[in-house]
Amino acid sequence: MSVVPTWTPDSWRLLDGEQDPGWPEPKALQEVTKRLAALPPLIFAGEARNLKDELARASRGEAFVLQGGDCAETFSEFSADKLKNDFKIVLQMAAVLAFTSGVPTIKIGRVAGQFAKPRSNQTETVAGEVLPVYRGDMINSADTLPEARRSDPRNMERAYMQAASTLNLLRGFAKGGFADLRSVHAWNREFVASSSEGHRYEATATGIERALRFMRVCGVDSPNLHQVDFYVSHEALVLDYEEALTRQDSTDGDRWYDCSTHMPWVGRRTNRIDQRHVEFLRGVGNPLGCKIDSNTTPDEVVELCERLDPDREPGRLTLISRMGRARVAQRLPALIEAVRAAGHPVTWMCDPMHGNTFTSEGGLKTRNFDDIFGEITDYFAVHERAGTWPGGIHLELTGENVTECLGGSDPVADGELHTRYDTACDPRLNARQSLDLAFRVSELLERFPAFRP
Ligand code: PEP
Ligand code: CO
Repeated sequence: MSVVPTWTPDSWRLLDGEQDPGWPEPKALQEVTKRLAALPPLIFAGEARNLKDELARASRGEAFVLQGGDCAETFSEFSADKLKNDFKIVLQMAAVLAFTSGVPTIKIGRVAGQFAKPRSNQTETVAGEVLPVYRGDMINSADTLPEARRSDPRNMERAYMQAASTLNLLRGFAKGGFADLRSVHAWNREFVASSSEGHRYEATATGIERALRFMRVCGVDSPNLHQVDFYVSHEALVLDYEEALTRQDSTDGDRWYDCSTHMPWVGRRTNRIDQRHVEFLRGVGNPLGCKIDSNTTPDEVVELCERLDPDREPGRLTLISRMGRARVAQRLPALIEAVRAAGHPVTWMCDPMHGNTFTSEGGLKTRNFDDIFGEITDYFAVHERAGTWPGGIHLELTGENVTECLGGSDPVADGELHTRYDTACDPRLNARQSLDLAFRVSELLERFPAFRP
């Protein structure tokens, strides 16, 4: 079967799929999903609709999306400090983007559910031993023991609890004064402040402070100056988890929403039109993300749009292109043209991370800052030629001082990668590289022709 006639939260089970978690105990799985289904939703459907409205603005060229966070959240790297530092760097980047370019920035974390990873291989060899591959803390453990690699459905409950606790703090930060623009200087951390991008940030923050002072003199004030909307997203990979958190919203005609997150996305390895992940996502009312890469054909992208956005609803579908620097200029134009010809009002976004990964000389998975910014630059140029709006960027980043990606203004070199290589999966931009990138992208945005369709 390739098309299910009637969508239900479990209709995905009728189809084949990639990246099966391989749960070994059906009874334990059933008990866990039953308990999850009885727990409160993590988000309110109205929030997902608000994000859809925001993304509709980004589809029309009236806003820019900054989506970022870890490649994989973990149970061990979980603390108030980590959440605060990741939140701070996103606030700093958003302030830079909006202040320099004059375009409102929509802030979305890869957080509070980003616990499952699609993998290219089923196994890996560690010290001569073949182990099942690590699939993310929602499924198994990264420890290199065979029993740790066994999939355990109880990890889904732990992920839910961590996501609830994460959301609780992030909501507090967003609305409780931490994100007040009057604190714009306080978001700059010491190890960033002493760098060239840190100095540049201080100058921007001073500009923002002056603007606020002037507005006060003029008697202008707005709640938007004192709080932010911060949304969360993750890859909807483990459908048992997503289904258990899918609920009907009585305020929207009993429509179903995936209440595990505001914006679930389907990854490059699970975006097959006739398989289970696309089937699941098509039926929920959330705004959706869909990754596309250099192998995606114009026909495929239009089929994905038809399936995921049949009503051509602005804000519903964000296409996240992750082509690789070398391929974006060549492959993206035909996809943009096909989507436009089919009349889908998608929001375009660039993931400049996943098409630019390679193994360093020292054997660590890494990415080069210049390739990341290079892909974004070409992505902007393609949209400029097409007369479409470049929508946003999707990044793997952290507020910490890690050494996972090469380059930047004070370049991380190959030989240094191992010093603070902390990621559980893919390499992230550190706080300085993230801020540096925000300045460069804000300049591209500032120069981009105003877009009014
Ligand atoms: C990711 O976003 O971490 C990811 C696995 O991306 P992709 O599906 O594009 O490979
Ligand atoms: Co990743």
